Order: sequence, then structure tokens, then C-alpha cells
Amino acid sequence: MQRTYKIKTAFLVNFVEKKMKILWKDPNSCSAMIKNKNFFLTESNDKYEIKNKIPRFVDKKNYTDAFGMQWNYFRKTQLDSYSKFPLSEQRLKRCLGDNLFSTLKGKLVLEAGCGAGRFTEIFLSSDANVVSFDYSNAVDANYASNSDKGDVFIFQGDLYDIPFPDEYFDYIFCFGVLQHTPNPLKAYNSIYSKLKKGGSISIDYYLKFDKPTPWSTPKYFWRPVTAKMDPQKLLRIIKLYIPIYLPIDTFIRKIPKIGSLITAIIPIPCWNYVSIGLNKAQRVEWAIMDTFDALSATYDTPKTLEEVREMVGVDNTGHEKFEIFYGSNGVVVNILKK
Ligand SMILES: C[S@@+](CC[C@H](N)C(=O)[O-])C[C@H]1O[C@@H](n2cnc3c(N)ncnc32)[C@H](O)[C@@H]1O
Repeated sequence: MQRTYKIKTAFLVNFVEKKMKILWKDPNSCSAMIKNKNFFLTESNDKYEIKNKIPRFVDKKNYTDAFGMQWNYFRKTQLDSYSKFPLSEQRLKRCLGDNLFSTLKGKLVLEAGCGAGRFTEIFLSSDANVVSFDYSNAVDANYASNSDKGDVFIFQGDLYDIPFPDEYFDYIFCFGVLQHTPNPLKAYNSIYSKLKKGGSISIDYYLKFDKPTPWSTPKYFWRPVTAKMDPQKLLRIIKLYIPIYLPIDTFIRKIPKIGSLITAIIPIPCWNYVSIGLNKAQRVEWAIMDTFDALSATYDTPKTLEEVREMVGVDNTGHEKFEIFYGSNGVVVNILKK
């Protein structure tokens, strides 16, 4: 019988930053948990599995299973160290700004919803101390790629139930994630509660478009069907048509003035990175991966910039500094907590 691990009884305290050693404690008794080879045991006999060296605070199956499959299949695709293009690094620098990015060294960073770890490796190369988690088994991909690259601790856990005390992290990063949760506001409030006073948080969020675009129109047309499909089957279909359709899509997109509108109206989803410098084989791989990403996610609720502003509570007096702008996946927010 499958055991449901009770996240609420797990709590991580005493994070020793330099050596990244973590003392696990049972919040009920405040005593340390007993660590066996494959699990932690609390005084009240709850068990938390440790599989492939990664603590797991989740049910075995959850709504992010398609993401887990995606990130383990395309484990290296978007890593700068693999693509040899500094796309993740440039995106971080653009979105965070030099002021924030340059202060990450030695900071305790929480990366929420890490996927395969394209940003984990950038934080590590910036000498940050990184705690990185995802609800899916994408954490296995991240661990395989990044566990030896610096001070990183990776676990499988849920945004709604983060096993760390409140006001614990210097910096919290959550890109590409919140729109994929069942309740983005609740998810945002949960990560924000883990931020220290004087710390910063950066999120991004999918933009809701009010006119046809190649990124949104075909995707939201098909999602009612594809998000419910068997992910393996969906991936097989995408792998069949993208290599054939990508050159056609590229040709149409390059038609001056109307190319983009035409690809928006044609109901064939195709994530086409025309001009970011990838070679032909990489463009096919990225197109298959991101088309799958767009069509398979269980939840995908875009927002306007104003709706994102409302979600993060711009009027909240707890903000020392606040910026919101169009960029990255749609809308970017950086907040310094008072
Ligand atoms: C589009 S991916 C983005 C991954 C990574 N941040 C990136 O930009 O490459 C969204 C990720 O959010 C994760 N996710 C969704 N809901 C989550 C939750 N409740 N807790 C933690 N991670 C979650 C998914 O498993 C998935 O890996």
C-alpha cells in the first residue's frame, strides 16, 4: 500500500550555511529525527523517504508528474553549461538587475519549482548557498546535473508546505512556476512567508494576452484536450510533428508584418526560438520540449500585469522596494521585504 507522507510534520531547522549540513527535527517534539538509510523517522513514527539521496516530502503521484517526465527526459537541454549559450544567466541578469544579481554571493537562496535546474547552476556559479526544490521528480534531474557544482541542497516538496521556518531565506526565486499551481495567490503567499525581512524575492508569471499570439492562441485552444492526455503519448505526437512543422513555422514567421499573426491563427502549437542563437538541432529539441511543457501542464492560468500586481500585493506596506515589468515568461516582479 502506498504511504502518504505527511509534509506538515516535517520541518527543517538549523541550516549550517557553509557546509550545507541540515539538522532535521520533528516539529512536534523538537527532537532530531532518526535517520535510517532510506528514510527519516519522527518520534511519532511518521516516515519521510530519502530516495536517490533526495528527501521526498510528497505523495508519490501528484499533478506535476508530466513536468517530472519532461525534466528527466530533457535533463540537460536548457542548461547553459550544455547548450553553450548563456541564456539562463542573461535572463537572470536581465530580470533581477545587476544590483540584485551581484549580491547573491554567500546568500541563502530558496529556489521554488526548480525543474531541471537551469537557474540552480547559475545561482551556484554565483557562489550562493542554494536550497532547491520541486514538487515533481524533476529534482532527480537537478541533482544529477548540479549536486556537485557547489553548496546546494535539493529536496522534493510542495510550494504550499515548505519544510523550513518562516522568514528564513535571504533570497527567494520562483520563475515559471506560480501559473502552474492550483492556487497561485496561496502559493505566492507561502513562498513569501519564508523570506527574511530585508530579503528579496523574484517571481515571474505568464502574461494573459488580449490578442492572438503564436505563444498563446494555439496553446489554449488545445490545452483542454492535451492537459488530460497521457504525457508519454502526447510527447510521442509532438516528437512526430515538430521536426516536420518547425521549418514551415519558421518560414511563415519570417513573412514581414503578418507572419506572427498567421502562426497565431494556425492551430498548430510550435515553440519556435527563431532568433536566440540556437543551432538547428537545438531548435528542434527546444521546440519539442517547450511545446510539450505548454500543452501538458495540469494548470496554466495566465494573468495581466495588473492581476499579477494585485496578487503580490503592491500596496502591502511590508515592501521596501517593488518593481514589476514585462519580461521573461510575461511579467516579472522583484520585491525587497521591509
Ligand atoms: C515550467 S517549470 C519551470 C521550472 C524552472 N523554474 C525553470 O524555469 O526552468 C514549472 C515547475 O514548477 C513545478 N511546480 C508546480 N507546482 C509546484 C508546487 N506546488 N510545488 C513545487 N513545485 C511545483 C513543476 O513541477 C515544474 O517543474
